[in-house]
Amino acid sequence: MRILFNKEEPEIQDCIPIHIGIIMDGNGRWAKKRGFPRKFGHKAGAKNFRKIVKHCSHVGIKYLTVYAFSTENWNRPDQEVGALMRLFEQYLKEALSDFQDEDIKVKFLGKTEKFSEEIKNLILEVEKKSQNHSGMVLNIAMNYGGKEEIVNAVRLISEKVLKNEIQVSEITEKIFSNYLYTSKQPDVDLVIRTGGEYRTSNFLIWQTAYAEYVFTDTLWPDFQIDDFDNILHIYAKRKRRFGGV
Ligand code: FPP
Repeated sequence: MRILFNKEEPEIQDCIPIHIGIIMDGNGRWAKKRGFPRKFGHKAGAKNFRKIVKHCSHVGIKYLTVYAFSTENWNRPDQEVGALMRLFEQYLKEALSDFQDEDIKVKFLGKTEKFSEEIKNLILEVEKKSQNHSGMVLNIAMNYGGKEEIVNAVRLISEKVLKNEIQVSEITEKIFSNYLYTSKQPDVDLVIRTGGEYRTSNFLIWQTAYAEYVFTDTLWPDFQIDDFDNILHIYAKRKRRFGGV
């Protein structure tokens, strides 16, 4: 276990975000800068992802959601999509031991039907094998889109209304959020986006309504544990008002 903050900063210790979202951007540019095909960037990104997940678990983050593949990423060239799918498969096989060692509970956000049988089975296996873990919850957003998630929730709720299992007047923000893929989880406190773009790209639209954002130019494969810790310090100094004063 790594000591993150020193004793002179007890107020920062108290300000560790409960739920962090990460948009891991910049793999392609990282590879291009080195004259490699984009898939090498994704490979380096996957390696870094594994490291940062462990660190988040060590510093006491309760929920970590990562954007691994968006509903729009299917539009990339077949070769790149294929390389990403092979990486997901490899990761899901190799990282099972991390989830056991770190007591991490894994959940996938998004619809799985477009994935290969192999990946679908691995998703089921990882969720099942980690379901009773009591450490950090790791949400892997794969074939995920924030708009799709909201439409999916509306459909689920509408079906309940049609069956008279819930009344329209009973639908509150809290009830609605239980139909999202992140059902029963707290909203996101902090979103980190690497890679120098300043947009949210359809990531957790509902859950980030009052999240703090930190954007960094660092490309995802270069994003180090120290960069992560610096962002925790930035977050700790933010004044969150949630629309109040
Ligand atoms: C964005 O970089 C990244 C992705 C679309 C994929 C994210 C995937 C990983 C970090 C690796 C694998 C993840 C898991 C869960 C094993 P980009 O390709 O858009 O980069 P660019 O903006 O430089 O082109």
